[in-house]
Amino acid sequence: MAMSQAALKAEHALGHGDNATTVQDITNPSKDNAGDPSGEKMKALAWMGKNKVEMIETLKPRILEPRDVILKITGSTVCGSDLHLLHGTVVELEKGDILGHEFCGIVDEVGDQVTNLKKGQRVVASFQIACGDCYYCKQKLSSQCEKTNSNTLENAMYGGRTAGMFGYSHFTGGFAGGQAEYTRVPYGDVNLLPLPDDVPDETGLYLSDVLATSWHAVVDTGVKKGDVVAIWGAGPIGQMAAEFSLLNGASRVIMIDSNWRLDYVKERYPHIDTLDYSALGKGNSVTSKLKEMCNNRGPDVSIECAAGEYAKGWAHYFEMMLGLETDTSEIVNEMIASTRNFGRCGITGVYVGFTNHFNIGSLMERGIRLIGNGQAPVHLYWESLLKMIQEDKIHPLKMVSHRVKLEELDKVYYKFEKKEDGMQKVFVETKFSQPAAKGSPSLTTYS
Ligand SMILES: NC(=O)c1ccc[n+]([C@@H]2O[C@H](COP(=O)([O-])OP(=O)(O)OC[C@H]3O[C@@H](n4cnc5c(N)ncnc54)[C@H](O)[C@@H]3O)[C@@H](O)[C@H]2O)c1
Ligand SMILES: [Zn+2]
Ligand SMILES: [Zn+2]
Repeated sequence: MAMSQAALKAEHALGHGDNATTVQDITNPSKDNAGDPSGEKMKALAWMGKNKVEMIETLKPRILEPRDVILKITGSTVCGSDLHLLHGTVVELEKGDILGHEFCGIVDEVGDQVTNLKKGQRVVASFQIACGDCYYCKQKLSSQCEKTNSNTLENAMYGGRTAGMFGYSHFTGGFAGGQAEYTRVPYGDVNLLPLPDDVPDETGLYLSDVLATSWHAVVDTGVKKGDVVAIWGAGPIGQMAAEFSLLNGASRVIMIDSNWRLDYVKERYPHIDTLDYSALGKGNSVTSKLKEMCNNRGPDVSIECAAGEYAKGWAHYFEMMLGLETDTSEIVNEMIASTRNFGRCGITGVYVGFTNHFNIGSLMERGIRLIGNGQAPVHLYWESLLKMIQEDKIHPLKMVSHRVKLEELDKVYYKFEKKEDGMQKVFVETKFSQPAAKGSPSLTTYS
């Protein structure tokens, strides 16, 4: 049995905690008796097993709780995190679960207790589901809401829970995602931010996750004026973290990766330096190269925007395959060893569980501050980031490579996974979307 299903079985046997104030495990309206009474159908992208996603037809969701909003989706995307779900690295997915945690749309229906939103209003959702008034929500640390996820396994494994998340397995509550034509948004009055007319879906969408995540990675790891910052992973999160490091005063940013994404960076962000680890000569390592590039000491700040599932060498590949660890320590070790003494390291790429051969000695002896950035608290930043989009200070479209159709999203997942056709951040349109906004890519189809 795959690990994902074994974990789900264990969760069923243990039973959920009693902390959640919103219903759990509603990941597909047809499957979970949560469909609209009209019988109206919708299209959605569902996880069907390890490395398998499919477009399905299911019931449109209905209001289940008085603070619910039903959203008509006009834009969604695929995230590096979706690959961790596709691969079954994040556990507790069930066949038929609807994915997608970044989406925007139009309010279609509101529950009795939603007073701040109206039918027809344009909004973006945060990837996490927050209650709005628990210990963490009061501080806008919405990704750690205590009331929206009652998963017992997560609590036991981590010593605490994260918030519930859209389209992110039963491990985080079990909520149907937004890679669909409609989504139910629990606590819709808290988890939807109105989008003003001067911010089109094509930019506003990314307030769901990428923008807040990258901003958080930078400020939480403590990038200060004059810092040299190294970033592992030149995907959308890494690219925005690079931009935001410079906005926060970094004097130089170096991005590390191994593929065409570095060319994309060179073209769109010419002021950012790159390091291709696949092209390093014999006797060179990322660490030795970074020392050479940074006064023989290393960067002041390093940020991990790759993920723990991507082993570099065979040893960790086999350890993960054999279940001896869930994540490789290679990137984190490389980051620790590369950073200057008393420098700071942040982890934003997803790590699921436990790792072997962690270089605790270098961390301790050289005074490296290692910061788990956590799932990013979107609510803490999204209003100020929206303002920065309006003021033309940040440019989310820079990382967007394609516009695709929801109906072809299953094909897009595999292209995104293989980094084919120069694909990275996509804008997924539905039958409800407006024509492409100025400056955004035109539609690519695959049939
Ligand atoms: N903490 C959060 O709130 C949060 C939110 C969103 C995404 N994430 C995570 O951030 C990570 C990046 O997201 P993304 O959408 O940019 O993903 P992505 O998959 O598009 O990009 C990841 C990049 O990392 C590179 N990479 C792999 N191994 C590497 C290595 N050893 N050294 C350097 N680079 C390496 C890949 O080539 C790829 O370009 C993912 O793990 C995602 O799940 C975290
Ligand atoms: Zn995401
Ligand atoms: Zn809360």
